[in-house]
Amino acid sequence: MPKKCIIIGDPVEHSLSPAMHNAGYKFLGLEDRFVFTKRRVTKNNLQDAIKELKDDEFYGITVTTPHKVEIIKYLDKIDPIAKKIGAVNTILNKNGELTGYNTDWLGTTNPIKELTSLKNKKVALIGAGGASRAIAFGLLKEGSSLKIFNRTIQKAEQLSNKLASVYNQDRLIEFSDLSNLEEVESFDIVINSTSLGMLPNTDQTPLPKKYLNSEQIVFEAIYNPHETKFVKEAREVGCRVIFGYEMLLHQGLAQFEIYTNRNAPKEVMKEALLNNLYK
Ligand code: ATR
Repeated sequence: MPKKCIIIGDPVEHSLSPAMHNAGYKFLGLEDRFVFTKRRVTKNNLQDAIKELKDDEFYGITVTTPHKVEIIKYLDKIDPIAKKIGAVNTILNKNGELTGYNTDWLGTTNPIKELTSLKNKKVALIGAGGASRAIAFGLLKEGSSLKIFNRTIQKAEQLSNKLASVYNQDRLIEFSDLSNLEEVESFDIVINSTSLGMLPNTDQTPLPKKYLNSEQIVFEAIYNPHETKFVKEAREVGCRVIFGYEMLLHQGLAQFEIYTNRNAPKEVMKEALLNNLYK
């Protein structure tokens, strides 16, 4: 019997995880040992769904919107960084004992670390919504300092306070609304975690092009469209750019390794992801 892995969420119909993971299993000859499916689980049904998955001996449970925070109360153990972030996207079921992990932060830090170290870098994070949280924790964990820019300053402040309560050492955590975006010029890394530029609003961008320079690394969290206006302008300026799909890919690679204990085959999983996203 293969070990069963599954993604639960609502909506989950268009999830790319099954294609990505199954392509990885196939490439490594693990398709008899692992299989990855999906199941829609609504908010009201989470507790029953978890019980069912345990009864049916699902081994790896990937958790997506809207359950990443709520799921924590059904776990037996939680990994320290997932606990700090306060969200879980990956669960291992070992004989009925559920341990929660978070790989979303690795979706940001790993692709950046392929280009540069995050230690002592100044990062401008534009946005303070759901996606921003794991990104911000990851950056601080890797030794960067952070300034959060957000339309609603209260949300930037809340996130900043939460981060400071965990990383209260020497890392700088600042916040601002969007009226000081010219400051971004002096940052090493610029991240968009707002929804500005997402389909269908592809003419929007979180930052005027004039505040970018060719020394900077630009990270986009939006994967639809493939190339946002922000990414296009950053490339024109000469920035090194990390596309939105890379965040999806890298959180998936890290998750694959937790489920299989094998190195994830990056190129194969990337191809499966891109074929399903942009075909
Ligand atoms: P996600 O879970 O994808 O991060 P979210 O929690 O709704 O989604 O967060 C969306 C982010 O985009 C927020 O930072 C939001 O800013 P607010 O906190 O002020 O709402 C930002 N955002 C969305 N539309 C925006 C707009 N038109 N201008 C500026 N920021 C915007």
